[in-house]
Amino acid sequence: MKDASYDDFIDKLRSQSDIVGIISEYVPLKKRGKNYWGCCPFHHEKTPSFSVTPDKGFFYCFGCQTGGNVFNFLMKLENLTFMEAVKKLAEKMNIPVPEKEKSEHDRQVEREMAGLLRANAMAGDFFHACLTKTNYGKAAREYLESRGIDGATIATFRLGYAPRAWDKLTAALTGRGFTAETLAKAGLAVAKSSGDGVYDRFRDRIMFPIADARGRVVGFGGRVTDGSQPKYLNTAETPLFNKRHVLYGFDLAYQAIKQAGRAIVVEGYMDLIALHKSGITNAVASLGTAFTPEQARQLARHAGEIYFAYDSDAAGQNATLRALATVRSLGIAVRVVTVPDGKDPDEYIRKHGADAFRTLVDQAPALLAYQVSQALAANDHSGASGKMAVLAQAIPALAEAPDLAEVNEHIRLLSQTLGIHEEDIRREVRKTQQKDKNVNRGQNSTMLGLSQRPAPRSVAAERQLIRLMLEDNAVIPYVQAQLDGEDIQGGERKTIINSLFTAYNMGKSPAADGLALELPEAAATELSNIMVMEIQLSDISRMVDDYIRIIRIARLEPLIMHHSQRAEEFLRLGDERNCRQELAESQRIKDEISKMYRA
Ligand code: UTP
Ligand code: MN
Repeated sequence: MKDASYDDFIDKLRSQSDIVGIISEYVPLKKRGKNYWGCCPFHHEKTPSFSVTPDKGFFYCFGCQTGGNVFNFLMKLENLTFMEAVKKLAEKMNIPVPEKEKSEHDRQVEREMAGLLRANAMAGDFFHACLTKTNYGKAAREYLESRGIDGATIATFRLGYAPRAWDKLTAALTGRGFTAETLAKAGLAVAKSSGDGVYDRFRDRIMFPIADARGRVVGFGGRVTDGSQPKYLNTAETPLFNKRHVLYGFDLAYQAIKQAGRAIVVEGYMDLIALHKSGITNAVASLGTAFTPEQARQLARHAGEIYFAYDSDAAGQNATLRALATVRSLGIAVRVVTVPDGKDPDEYIRKHGADAFRTLVDQAPALLAYQVSQALAANDHSGASGKMAVLAQAIPALAEAPDLAEVNEHIRLLSQTLGIHEEDIRREVRKTQQKDKNVNRGQNSTMLGLSQRPAPRSVAAERQLIRLMLEDNAVIPYVQAQLDGEDIQGGERKTIINSLFTAYNMGKSPAADGLALELPEAAATELSNIMVMEIQLSDISRMVDDYIRIIRIARLEPLIMHHSQRAEEFLRLGDERNCRQELAESQRIKDEISKMYRA
């Protein structure tokens, strides 16, 4: 992993690249003062809050707090990994990329991932050929036809058929040089309980290949054609396939999502296909599992608004409410498409046509309207207790809605429907808002009433330390012995350090690229920042000691101030005993710090 010439290359690339020029290819920028400004490509906005600082080589959006260097920009905007962003930038600048000197471990991981991708691609071809070209696939073809899926759609979605046999795919792929182990790891085959060989995981199922954002097959869903269970079988978690991140159809939808500025999320494979077939191509499917923050962020990067068009049954409505909670906590605008008369979008379109569905989308209520109508629908509000139940459900929604005019409109509506005075409802809303505020205040201040904003010096030290632990894994146990979680103040860096510790404790040799795949997005972004930082590697163990000291002192120093202030307060109150105690504590911390300096 240590490859100074490669690091030099990355540094050179970054320092020589014209970040304003690169970003201007995607976002119109205007110069104002030292910086350039434009409308942020990572969230929807009408007035520019996205700034580029050419002399520092960074961008930052004051609206959505997205920021980073030129690599981060390309990674986010084009959905690239760090290495891909490096390649892309090098291409733009016409600079050849040197081969990175990789560790044996890196090479092994890379080989494995490439093998899994190839196995998935080839399995996709195999299933597709079985469906379209063989006799095995006849019944499946007829089933699809009965559901209105024609040859063109089969081709677009590369639908396939897994034959009714235990070893057809395994035989085909081992015949092409794949090992049984690779097939099992790719989730295509399952180890026999006898321990001897593998058998096909998908049998007698219509196959829906699931692609990553760049259209590479990473997993499958397989549907039975009779009534047997489970109706759909999906690829289990593999190194390539992570359910939290996958959005079915994203590779085909992403251009349209960007263009429309909105994304429609449906639950199922068939819903997604029905929408795309009808020309509604800004749609993805969340595959029947809970909608995750990772999926929300991926969509929010390209769309200002997310529309949920889940099934109209109870399960679908519950899933909608959970999805709304997830998305709302990220501050992304949502609307809810209610699909009447027919269980899901696929059935609705078959019954009423694509235009009718488009109308549903255009008329989809915003979050608050949906919540209020849910509250009214969920309770029989003819009697007094029903009215109270409606209010109990609607008031938290009213209290947290940001748009005052919208809130007033719904208070008026509720007042009319329930026959309760507007002023009474408004008072309850205000009470809830007041409570929420107090709770938030409680969360924002620490137990000690200290500022939580990390000191810049310790931020730099935390970053350096992470980088050193990655440059030389031997440093990890040393750091682990001296720092505890509380010492690290930055949330993302805490996440990175914890996963470094965990990986190391599990006997792995953590490297940045592998680690980045496992981290939540914000932490992965911070990690790429750390990896492009300039560092010198002259005297690692001394550097490590210095950084540990800085981090620990940064945590302790504010405590001195805190205890002195408390001492002063006690003095004013005439409480001498407590005053002395506070002073002693403050002195103890001072001593601890000076001991650290002497060490
Ligand atoms: P649905 O049961 O609504 O199926 O599950 P569907 O998509 O409408 O499919 P058809 O129309 O009956 O053919 C919604 C989604 O939940 C996941 C699948 O992704 C499915 O598309 N699911 C459902 C499973 O993963 N396993 C199951 O057994 C059922
Ligand atoms: Mn369906």
